[in-house]
Amino acid sequence: MSGHAFSPEERAAVYRAIAERRDMRHFAGGEVPADTLARLLEAAHAAPSVGLMQPWRFIRITRPDLRAAIAALVEQERQRTAEALGERRDEFMRLKVEGIGQCAELLVVSLMDGREGHLFGRRTLPEMDLASVACAVQNLWLAARAEGLGMGWVSLFDPGALAELLGAPSGARPVAILCLGPVEAFYPAPMLALEGWTEPRPLDELLSENQWNC
Ligand SMILES: Cc1cc2nc3c(=O)[nH]c(=O)nc-3n(C[C@H](O)[C@H](O)[C@H](O)COP(=O)(O)O)c2cc1C
Repeated sequence: MSGHAFSPEERAAVYRAIAERRDMRHFAGGEVPADTLARLLEAAHAAPSVGLMQPWRFIRITRPDLRAAIAALVEQERQRTAEALGERRDEFMRLKVEGIGQCAELLVVSLMDGREGHLFGRRTLPEMDLASVACAVQNLWLAARAEGLGMGWVSLFDPGALAELLGAPSGARPVAILCLGPVEAFYPAPMLALEGWTEPRPLDELLSENQWNC
């Protein structure tokens, strides 16, 4: 064991947060105390980022009319996704895919504008900006679970329409609508698995050595 390791209890807490984090779509209203929200946003902001570009921008939605407009955008895309799914349309429409109406806090996470000025680590892989934003969202997700709060990542929306709604500068690209807040209970497993939409695959099927064998 490395001398730098956390104590057994601390390690267990980290692995517990990872194992028990769930994408939540059912929320119990209520509120997120201001100091808790500040801690969560600091956790997100502590994420690694390519070239330390910190490409994330967080927009807290507090206006009810804006929340309603965002919900309408998501509903529009939910219908379009259903049509695109063809024979799985009805099955998809029965799934709950967001909790925008019930969550205590609504956040939009966007890629910043002017990303083309950042080349370090992105010359061949420009999408590393998005990977960095995903790291920030995962930090927030895990910290929220540790705080006893649920979070759901909603990506069913037209990014251009959401950018316009939020007055984002040209080149910025919203990539996540985050529903955050108290929940009655955390799902014991991914909801899409519980609902029979898909089966998660075990790690050993996705892991190989030296040569691609997955
Ligand atoms: C980038 C990303 C986008 C997602 N978008 C949606 C979404 O729009 N609606 C939804 O219901 N779930 C969404 N999810 C949640 C996934 O369905 C969920 O993470 C997956 O089923 C595994 O469940 P778990 O997070 O509870 O382990 C998204 C997850 C990620 C990582």
